Amino acid sequence: MNFETINKYIADLYANKTSLTRSKYESSTELKDFVPVVDDDVAMLLRLLLQLTCARRVLEIGTSIGYSTTSMAQVVKKYDGKIITIEFDEKVASQAQTNFKRAGVADFIELQIGDAQVLIPQLQGDFDLIFQDVDKRLYPRLLPDCIRLLKQGGLLVAEDTLFPVIDLDPEWHHLIPPIEEFNHLVANNPELESTILPIGDGVTLAIKK
Ligand SMILES: C[S@@+](CC[C@H](N)C(=O)[O-])C[C@H]1O[C@@H](n2cnc3c(N)ncnc32)[C@H](O)[C@@H]1O
Repeated sequence: MNFETINKYIADLYANKTSLTRSKYESSTELKDFVPVVDDDVAMLLRLLLQLTCARRVLEIGTSIGYSTTSMAQVVKKYDGKIITIEFDEKVASQAQTNFKRAGVADFIELQIGDAQVLIPQLQGDFDLIFQDVDKRLYPRLLPDCIRLLKQGGLLVAEDTLFPVIDLDPEWHHLIPPIEEFNHLVANNPELESTILPIGDGVTLAIKK
């Protein structure tokens, strides 16, 4: 299976379906130095999952310039929901806040600036959906808190979980072991029912039973 071909096919098929795309979002963002954001197909999947679950309480770990947050906020605002999103890079967080205002979704987002390892243990549940997209080395460490914070039937979505099997730039190979550890922890956790979808760089879906 060729990931690039698949991702391109999906992207082309839906190119005219959404007004919010990664490339438009990035080009209207003043800051040019930031950690990559999700592909459009992953953003679409998140929007669908939010609608399926009528999610009102959403947690995102890893904001960057706020593309996935903005895309999700356009959905949760219909349910009068709120997204808490966490980012430790102040410059990037400030750009995200500007982007939220420009997109008219700032009222539906609470941006917490700080280290997820410090902020996450202080949060209380119950979240309908958690989107894990932070530094991949933190995925295994943050998993117990993600499970604690999910409501029963809540959904954990984790990005980049097929790093171990995709054609990954050698620059990112050091991230394979923590993702491998995370994948085994999720697959073998008796509290979770899960699978991995081969879109983007792999997206884990795990329901808290
Ligand atoms: C992949 S990007 C998030 C992309 C975003 N979800 C999107 O698709 O639009 C991951 C972000 O997590 C932030 N990050 C990394 N380690 C962090 C930590 N320990 N606490 C908070 N944020 C962190 C990085 O600065 C980066 O902006």
